[in-house]
Amino acid sequence: MEEYIFTLAAMAMGFLAVAYLYEPYWKVRHVPGPVPLPLIGHLHLLAKHGLNAFPLLAKKHGPIFRFHVGRQPLIIVADAELCKEVGIKKFKSLPNRSLPSPIANSPIHLKGLFATRDSRWSAMRNIIISIYQPSHLAGLIPTMESYIERAATNLDEGEEVAFSELAVSLATDVIGQAAFGADFGLSMKGGGNVVEDDGAAAAKKASASEFIKMHIYSTTSLKMDLSGSLSVIVGTLVPFLLNPFRQLLLRVPGSADREITRVNGELSRMMDRIVSDRAAAAAASRQRKDFLSVVLAARESDASTRDLLTPDYLSALTYEHLLAGSATTAFTLSSVVYLVAKHPEVEEKLLREIDAFGPRDRLPTADDLQTKFPYLDQAH
Ligand code: HEM
Repeated sequence: MEEYIFTLAAMAMGFLAVAYLYEPYWKVRHVPGPVPLPLIGHLHLLAKHGLNAFPLLAKKHGPIFRFHVGRQPLIIVADAELCKEVGIKKFKSLPNRSLPSPIANSPIHLKGLFATRDSRWSAMRNIIISIYQPSHLAGLIPTMESYIERAATNLDEGEEVAFSELAVSLATDVIGQAAFGADFGLSMKGGGNVVEDDGAAAAKKASASEFIKMHIYSTTSLKMDLSGSLSVIVGTLVPFLLNPFRQLLLRVPGSADREITRVNGELSRMMDRIVSDRAAAAAASRQRKDFLSVVLAARESDASTRDLLTPDYLSALTYEHLLAGSATTAFTLSSVVYLVAKHPEVEEKLLREIDAFGPRDRLPTADDLQTKFPYLDQAH
């Protein structure tokens, strides 16, 4: 009898384990894709083929397919028109993203748009979209142009430049300015290691460089494959073990978990300080066009915005801009430059269009960018 009970208990445990591991798969089982392996899902394909795994799967399963990161299925859309449909036309119907284990415990990531859910997500998103009117974005163009000019001083004739590195520095500088009005100086010649002659400016620069170092460390630690910290790996495979493992590893000196948590906590505190300093100097901020200042001004005049965007959410949203905007923009720029360089006929046509715009010192307005560069638009 005892044997039966033991066998039944073992079978029940096995059944529960399988049900837990395959529960998210069940909901999307009709989406085409290879059979996921227990625990690792499709991560072995990423280890085997690198990012080529995605085009290979698209070829085999069509433009919409499943890819399982451990237990969590992702739906990959590998077609430009369908991406537009999902990412723009139907975007509002896609709230509540799954929470990847690298950000599941990090306060600086949890209160941004990526991780908030349901009505809070739509309410915060509506406020942010209302800020990003074309006229507001057009107001940011002169800042972007000045940063691009500054970055271009790195391009000495005849000298090799790793464009992808320059693009990350430039994008981070531009987003830093657009998000919270800080100049990290990463894309200036010499990488921003400028010696400041006045003490206050030097202190500011030192704290900006500390901030950016932490930001880069935190961002490069956001890994979705199996190369992250131990708790992130365990959390990817068996999500309910993430927290207990993390709590354990936080007690181990020198562990990656401890360091990432320390850095994310420090980043959070730095963002909180930036938000509270800017809120205290509200009158001076009114002239500024960066995201943080504009939201702070909106908070002043509207009670519902004030209730929704409390300082903790504001810190997370502002930081999220830096996180979401820099690597994406840099990768897009680098890919465009790479692809154009591989197609000289396209490069020639692009240069003709740009040269036809006018003398070198004529800067395009927002309207010019919309209407005068149709070929550039297509190439991008
Ligand atoms: C070429 C550049 C960019 C690309 C390819 C890109 C791509 C994406 C994608 C695919 C999503 C949806 C992610 C998901 O649903 O899980 C997204 C969301 C988002 N992006 Fe971007 N992005 C770019 C630039 C930017 C910039 C410049 C910013 C901010 C300054 C930004 C801020 C955001 C935010 C806040 C979200 C979350 C939106 C929400 O939940 O409503 N992105 N981006």
